[in-house]
Amino acid sequence: MFIIDKKDKKPLGDTGEKVSAIGIGTWGISNFESMYKALLFAVELGINQIDTAEIYHGGKAEEIVGRVAKEVGRDNVFITNKLSPLNLSEPSRGEKVAKARLTRMGVSYFDLLLVHWIEPNISIESYIRSLENIAEKGYTRYIGVSNFYLLELKKAIEATKKFDIVVDQVKYSVYDKAIEYDLLPFAIQEKITIQAYTPIERGRLSTDRRLKEIALRYGRTPIQVALNYLISHEFVTAIPKTERRERIREFYGALGWRLNVEDFKKLSRV
Ligand SMILES: NC(=O)c1ccc[n+]([C@@H]2O[C@H](COP(=O)([O-])OP(=O)(O)OC[C@H]3O[C@@H](n4cnc5c(N)ncnc54)[C@H](OP(=O)(O)O)[C@@H]3O)[C@@H](O)[C@H]2O)c1
Repeated sequence: MFIIDKKDKKPLGDTGEKVSAIGIGTWGISNFESMYKALLFAVELGINQIDTAEIYHGGKAEEIVGRVAKEVGRDNVFITNKLSPLNLSEPSRGEKVAKARLTRMGVSYFDLLLVHWIEPNISIESYIRSLENIAEKGYTRYIGVSNFYLLELKKAIEATKKFDIVVDQVKYSVYDKAIEYDLLPFAIQEKITIQAYTPIERGRLSTDRRLKEIALRYGRTPIQVALNYLISHEFVTAIPKTERRERIREFYGALGWRLNVEDFKKLSRV
């Protein structure tokens, strides 16, 4: 029996806090001014989750996000940042880098800080010690991981002492549903939010015939159907990227309605 999650505000882990089911990513920017304006428009619509990383465009993506926070008011935007594993390999380095990134962005805290990926020669325990130290110092409100598979996520949870892992940011789309087999059920059970990245397959889903067929029946677009499918799962938020105002509106149109169970099941088989 499928239960379609109809909420457009999703729980952030077990924190009691909620975030918008759709957030906006900031990788692959062609025009920074357009990205800035697109993010402002998203926040205006209530899409206030923004994802960035220190490695995106050599820090220029972070700067844009910082500008948005300044414009709309820091409390009106939920900022996720991601640090490279090497920078989280030990607490003093992590703290120094986190402070430098905050300065670069012109904000005093992140809402959520993740280790961007796993390096085989650095222990999971080291990332968690560094993230917890950064959280303890007040530089981030919450901590999490990215690109962690089930066993790695379990290890990360075991390594925590003071702060919970509230998010695992992983690839998840209608074309790539690997997480549905093990990671997603575990995340739901443990109350860990999934941030689905590359959720529209870099735009490829806009021309998918099966999505088009379903979209037509709902008066929606294939992209809206693709995002709706993801956020129909409990604890899943999606973070597509666009720097175009009209596509922000399109993402926004993935909210406020749900696919019926039959179409949902159809997509789960794509
Ligand atoms: N943790 C990680 O390792 C990781 C890895 C990858 C991504 N991410 C995060 O997740 C975010 C999203 O992933 P992503 O950027 O890889 O891929 P995505 O969101 O699936 O696709 C973004 C691309 O699709 C284009 N696009 C947007 N709407 C479209 C539409 N309606 N029709 C056709 N094309 C459209 C965008 O171009 P325009 O801007 O021109 O609209 C952009 O080039 C990233 O920005 C980043 O923040 C995290």
